[in-house]
Amino acid sequence: MYGIVVSIELASVLMLLVLSLIAGSKASKLVFHGSNDRLRIRSRKLLWWAVYVSVAACAVVGCVAILAVRMGPIFWIDRVALHIPLVGVPVLFVWFSSVPKLINLYKDTKKEADGPVDGTLRSRASHASLVAPFQLLALGALTTFYFVLVPPIPFEWLDAAIPVSLFALLSVALWTMHRRRSERAGRSDAALKLRSWPIRALRNVGVLVIAAAVAAPFFVSAMNASRLPAELDMGTGVADYGGGAAPAGGGQHDHTAHAAGKPASTSASTVSVTQLTGPRTGKPDRQYTLTAEKKTVRLSSGKEVDAWTYNGQIPGPELRMKEGELVEVTLINKDIDDGVTIHWHGLDVPNAEDGVAGATQNAVMPGETYTYRFLAEQVGTFWYHSHQHSKEAVQKGLFGALVVEPRQPQAKDLKDITVITHVWRGAGFAIGSSDTVERMSIAAGTPVRIRLINTDDWVRQTYTLIGTEFQVAAIDGTDLNKPGTLQNTRLELLTGGRYDVTFTMPDGPVFLSVGEGKKLGLFMSPDGSGDIPSSPPTVPFEPEHYGSPAPTPFDADSRFDREFTMILDNKLGFYNGVFSSYDTINGAVFPNTPMFVVKEGDLVKTTIVNRGSVDHPMHLHGHHMLVLSRNEERVSGSPWWSDTLDVAPGETYEVAFRADNPGIWMDHCHNLQHAAAGMTMHLMYEGVTTPFMIGSATSNHPE
Ligand code: C2O
Ligand code: CU
Repeated sequence: MYGIVVSIELASVLMLLVLSLIAGSKASKLVFHGSNDRLRIRSRKLLWWAVYVSVAACAVVGCVAILAVRMGPIFWIDRVALHIPLVGVPVLFVWFSSVPKLINLYKDTKKEADGPVDGTLRSRASHASLVAPFQLLALGALTTFYFVLVPPIPFEWLDAAIPVSLFALLSVALWTMHRRRSERAGRSDAALKLRSWPIRALRNVGVLVIAAAVAAPFFVSAMNASRLPAELDMGTGVADYGGGAAPAGGGQHDHTAHAAGKPASTSASTVSVTQLTGPRTGKPDRQYTLTAEKKTVRLSSGKEVDAWTYNGQIPGPELRMKEGELVEVTLINKDIDDGVTIHWHGLDVPNAEDGVAGATQNAVMPGETYTYRFLAEQVGTFWYHSHQHSKEAVQKGLFGALVVEPRQPQAKDLKDITVITHVWRGAGFAIGSSDTVERMSIAAGTPVRIRLINTDDWVRQTYTLIGTEFQVAAIDGTDLNKPGTLQNTRLELLTGGRYDVTFTMPDGPVFLSVGEGKKLGLFMSPDGSGDIPSSPPTVPFEPEHYGSPAPTPFDADSRFDREFTMILDNKLGFYNGVFSSYDTINGAVFPNTPMFVVKEGDLVKTTIVNRGSVDHPMHLHGHHMLVLSRNEERVSGSPWWSDTLDVAPGETYEVAFRADNPGIWMDHCHNLQHAAAGMTMHLMYEGVTTPFMIGSATSNHPE
């Protein structure tokens, strides 16, 4: 609903802009229609234009009204405060000033015989109170359009002040100009001549050139200010304390001029991320070596992909381990010139093992190695990927599945299948490296667990299980409590998210359809043969009402030490010197996005709101967030823990987590294209420092 209403509003604003520009130009030409008859006809026509612009204006106001009735204030505060007055006030002027004057003009010209227009009528036809309102409306629509493109969110009058003042100033100027013009028109018709079109065009170009000259310095300075610094310490940022105490003293410094709060401090005891390691000694239970290298890999259809791989395969090898095991992974970079790391997505490892270039380590360059060691303490489905140039690295294949099996043995005959969906550039959709339907024979009665992982940007991937009832046993690696039986329910994942699906193999065929149709998926039957069934109509899976409640260490009624708000939106502006429309967090792109500062032990609540027009899978490193509510409705099913939360346009989530894993933790949109364009921020524990740097002068580029 939200997305549609917002699009209609935008279309209406544009429509209003066009219509009011036309109406404004017609109004100012009224005086040039030399005869009474023509003036009469034109006045009547202009009355119709008053109706047209009002229809568009009503559409704008109507859209805002719908939002105000249906949504929380964060979705409409700027629209009510700015769009409505900017559009509404000029329309009222049109109706209470222009329209009565036009009606009188129409009546009075009707009384008189045709002939040249006299001075009084001329001055009335060009009167400011008749002409200007139409043009003010165009100006109002233009200003509203600006506020649609650059929403002043989080809402502050100060951010709106310059455009609003400009609107007011230009309005006064327009009015004064028309008043003078009308006086001249009254005195003699020679004083007023409709200039020929080349002259008018020239004048308009002149106005544009002057406007551009005035705007240019602001534009250039904004562009330069947006350039990422050569070196940036991720332990610093625009501190947001979430209503909690800002520590006294100094130490950490804000890295931008416009800090939202006082500098965070390094209290007496500081700790470097390099000290926050997993067990450095002890014989590992599992040892893996992952070698990053470029390789051309063939998909099942025969198509080739120029990939960046771990161990020469896409995806990288699946890492399977048991709960509680000490895991050691040696990363070798053979020839990835951009550098590489490994981040254990969803696994809440100690900070030094988190694998973020520039925050927890330096990027591993060709010829270098790096060792990660951690205890596999969470059971479930995870994945790993490079967190250096991650947008490119993940797209090209530097990722793989990671599964932690429970300590107690799983069912002997359990069929445990990992399904990673990805889009390979130039080759299209695939499950791992298989871009055709894969067939499997599974005996009837076999317990099956399918681990769905979506690793692709952009795509909201749809999974439909046809031919059997099933449960969603886990979300983002965490088991659900008493998951109910589902059928004809489609699962959707944005990049980074996981669902574990379980069922008992029936006698007949089962098809896991990925995306629409029968082109891609997993076909299972007792002997692997049979026809692929068609997809029935489905309903979307709603985790907030699924399963049964169970005790959690905290809930929506807990007292929180810090409460943060994360507003996702998009706006026109600069990022690193490039002008475009960017996805923003609290109105900013990195490094001006907030740094949420917490103390170890804090109970933290975050409200995530998506005001934008696209989905954002928000991923917090090092912690699992308990979802408290979705769109102001409390989670009523199983406890729902997430590390990658899909926030669709118009949605609001409240999540909470315990700050129990000190470090510097990325918190970003896992649409890695968005992250690479600045939709990233971090969670910062008081007293933690990092010796690593990001920036153009370093080799660390985490996104
Ligand atoms: Cu899966 Cu910050 O990443
Ligand atoms: Cu995003």
